[in-house]
Amino acid sequence: MTRLLITGAAGNMGAMLRPLLRRPDRTLRLFDIAEIADIDSATEEFVQGSVTDRAAVAAAVDGVDAILHLGGLSTEDSWANILSINVDGTQAIFDAAVAHGVTRVVTASSNHAVGFWTHDEAAGQPLPGDVSPRPDGFYGWSKAAVEALGRMYHDRFGIDVVNLRIGSSFEKPPNYRGLASWMSPADTARLVEASLSDNAKGFHTVWGISKNTRAWWSGAEGAAIGYRPMEDAEQFAEEFLAEHEWTFDDPILQRVGGAFCDHPLGKRM
Ligand SMILES: NC(=O)c1ccc[n+]([C@@H]2O[C@H](COP(=O)([O-])OP(=O)(O)OC[C@H]3O[C@@H](n4cnc5c(N)ncnc54)[C@H](O)[C@@H]3O)[C@@H](O)[C@H]2O)c1
Repeated sequence: MTRLLITGAAGNMGAMLRPLLRRPDRTLRLFDIAEIADIDSATEEFVQGSVTDRAAVAAAVDGVDAILHLGGLSTEDSWANILSINVDGTQAIFDAAVAHGVTRVVTASSNHAVGFWTHDEAAGQPLPGDVSPRPDGFYGWSKAAVEALGRMYHDRFGIDVVNLRIGSSFEKPPNYRGLASWMSPADTARLVEASLSDNAKGFHTVWGISKNTRAWWSGAEGAAIGYRPMEDAEQFAEEFLAEHEWTFDDPILQRVGGAFCDHPLGKRM
């Protein structure tokens, strides 16, 4: 029996992933600052707490085999909150992983770690999954910091780390930009399984998107760890393109981070 810790399990991705990551030989330990009411006691355990509380993090990490770290702020916020929850909180997770002998951590990074890369700069080539950071705000900066923390914990302590530069992981694309950036729930689960597999030993930074017709972010790094996306956001194209022309002259589509690049720093989206 293996035990997978999912932090931030009460959130959007946690709710989508819990049923998809259930396995007969796997217990899901769920951790969140928020209450989770619908625990399946046969396959799930719940530890309530904050990533900013080191004792709570230690209790959550104790006895698990791997960590899927989703917990934290998922959009712009104040510098103080971003530092405390996304950066200190992630360092607490890695620190506890070392202390408790956990050898695999999968981080929820973001396209916003590299948000200022543009379609023009990609020059007709898919933008690599590990292209260098160009954060589009405090939130994106925290994700670049999380990626670099993962690198350090890999090099110093040998933890296997996979940074997922997630595009738009929702039931359906949230807007027309999602025709390129969407990752379906089933593909999100496929990416997590690949990230937990032996193929993903070492240190990896990969895009988290489906095999979207309009994607311009590379699938190569994901393929290298065994991620085979099956879905395409094109099924939603008619709906979104009725209201928006698809052109890379549109700054929302031109830049990896879309509208986040223009958002006032330090404010919630
Ligand atoms: N969904 C996406 O498209 C997307 C894209 C890029 C990156 N991400 C990243 O993936 C992760 C999950 O995204 P989501 O869409 O589920 O976000 P979400 O906001 O729905 O969920 C985040 C969860 O983290 C929990 N949380 C917040 N502060 C916490 C704390 N101090 N301690 C413990 N838990 C805390 C929240 O209660 C919430 O349940 C986030 O880290 C986000 O930045 C998501």
